[in-house]
Amino acid sequence: MKKDFVKLSKEWFNKQAPVYDETNTILYSKYGKISCENIYEFLKDKDYKKLLDIGCGTGYLINMLSKEYEAEFTGIDLSPEMIKQAKGKNIGNAIFVEGKSDELPFEENTFDAITTVESFYFWENHTEALRQIKNVLKPGGKFLLIADIYDTGSLDFDTIYNIHKYKLFNPTKEKFEDLFHIVGFNDVKVHLKENTTWIVVEGKK
Ligand SMILES: C[S@@+](CC[C@H](N)C(=O)[O-])C[C@H]1O[C@@H](n2cnc3c(N)ncnc32)[C@H](O)[C@@H]1O
Repeated sequence: MKKDFVKLSKEWFNKQAPVYDETNTILYSKYGKISCENIYEFLKDKDYKKLLDIGCGTGYLINMLSKEYEAEFTGIDLSPEMIKQAKGKNIGNAIFVEGKSDELPFEENTFDAITTVESFYFWENHTEALRQIKNVLKPGGKFLLIADIYDTGSLDFDTIYNIHKYKLFNPTKEKFEDLFHIVGFNDVKVHLKENTTWIVVEGKK
């Protein structure tokens, strides 16, 4: 029988949500936090008024950005329990909504910047999600994606798959470049962070 990966993912992250922030291990927030800090660096000196974070989890990135920048922030996440944690942080200039990356409930040309941190692997339909991201991004807007490639230290994708029982997208530099080009992003830049397995992909509408 075909697995309902969206349901499995939602259950997995609902269970993680109440302890996600304080559980600083590979399958919880360890790499998320480091990656949020990396994306934070990439966003420094960029001018944006409306930012969307997809797969925002407990709102870690938005919480960090909202302390420094005067923008409007929106977080979206598949897991209602993650959204509950994010809302519980009472971040003044942010809203958090439950929803999926491939069914974005926003108007065309809404955001100047869109981010997604450590979430892409879990999405069911990557091409459709990227199309929708491009649609809700303003012309000239920037999309920043950060993910681990190949392995995360001792945990490879098969291990994660077995624990998670979720079919993960195993990203490579080439796959990202292809996907971004297929949906028509311009200025696609792929940064492999030195001495790590992280990849940051930038695309512009
Ligand atoms: C590993 S957590 C990362 C959370 C946060 N970005 C961080 O770095 O701390 C992955 C998040 O992606 C969310 N997610 C998974 N599939 C999704 C989808 N299709 N659309 C939106 N969010 C999704 C999960 O519910 C989870 O909160």
